Amino acid sequence: MRSMGDSWEMRNGLVIPNRSVLAAMTNKQSHHDGTLSEDEIDFLHRRSEGGFGIITTAASHVQESGQGWDGEFGVWSDHHLPGLTTLATKLRGGESRSFVQLFHGGMRAPSAITGKQPCSASENFISQKEGVSRALTTKEVEESVFAFIEAAKRCETAGFDGIELHGAHGYLIAQFLGSNTNRRNDRYGGNVQARCNFLIEIIRGIREVVSPQFAIMVRLSPVSDDIGITLDDTKEVIDFLIKEEIDAIHISCWDVFEVQPNDNSITKEICSMFSNSIPIVSTGSVWTAKDAQFVLNEGAQAVGVARVALPHPDWAKQVLDAEYRPSQPPFTPEELLRANLSPTFVEYMRRWKGFVTDGR
Ligand SMILES: Cc1cc2nc3c(=O)[nH]c(=O)nc-3n(C[C@H](O)[C@H](O)[C@H](O)COP(=O)(O)O)c2cc1C
Repeated sequence: MRSMGDSWEMRNGLVIPNRSVLAAMTNKQSHHDGTLSEDEIDFLHRRSEGGFGIITTAASHVQESGQGWDGEFGVWSDHHLPGLTTLATKLRGGESRSFVQLFHGGMRAPSAITGKQPCSASENFISQKEGVSRALTTKEVEESVFAFIEAAKRCETAGFDGIELHGAHGYLIAQFLGSNTNRRNDRYGGNVQARCNFLIEIIRGIREVVSPQFAIMVRLSPVSDDIGITLDDTKEVIDFLIKEEIDAIHISCWDVFEVQPNDNSITKEICSMFSNSIPIVSTGSVWTAKDAQFVLNEGAQAVGVARVALPHPDWAKQVLDAEYRPSQPPFTPEELLRANLSPTFVEYMRRWKGFVTDGR
């Protein structure tokens, strides 16, 4: 039986010291020009001291037009390199493997932040306030592919072990994957395979410029009604992806315990088909050691957690005790500050219902 303390390997041979993954968490702690702040670095470094096998950074935009939030760090320019290098060097001081999550917000990169009309695979309704997105021209899609490649190269130069391509949660890569949000008729639109082309060109381009030791992980939302992705589509997407030189897949389930009409969890559905071909990380609503073991028993190679790691930065060490049951929300601001969240991050967490004692 798999246990949380086992080491495992990605497809390229990168050894991960245990099965705990810190999932990406936007935290709004960085600087206006996209450079990393000490607060953001400290927050991640503290979780690597807490024993996570993988530390994933917050989503980081590869083009200025892709920024989703204030205080989000960027990877779109060499002026980000010193901060990235400081973070990678700190994380390398411990056992954790370090991954930068690369993304572009697409239609979810607000004009109030970027100063531009949001763009997407197609012209899509965003909101009454924001209006509609603009469809990227074919040349602009190619420029975006190039920006992902350049960003990945920067991450390797800075000393990270890999990148996670954020193809989940309805951002630009997902907007290309979705049948509702992608109605293009160039090579980036059409059937599932064609809608994968944006992602696949990014992967191939990155592989050409980074070393074989540098890992590429892809994060997907297995089902998304809004943008038009079904579980069957996702299985097809994974089928295409495993033919590429990627090293792991990360599925974002939000609730790993939710079952499909056939009573299987999404983790089980996907792992039973693919985990012999590629390691699968699964994330969503894991809190206790028993929850984590459930995900491993469903066939995942590793377990991602986000919220529980905020008040419990040592979760990855403590979860090795099979009876570990960390305390539940709400948390006081002081508890979160003590766990290396800055006042800005605590303020952001006040917006997550029921998380902070004096929040929503
Ligand atoms: C504050 C916060 C910020 C998040 N930011 C990101 C992000 O930048 N990229 C991403 O892929 N997921 C993001 N997520 C989703 C988490 O990675 C994770 O999938 C989700 O919270 C479910 O896991 P959990 O139940 O362990 O929190 C965020 C979640 C939280 C709570």
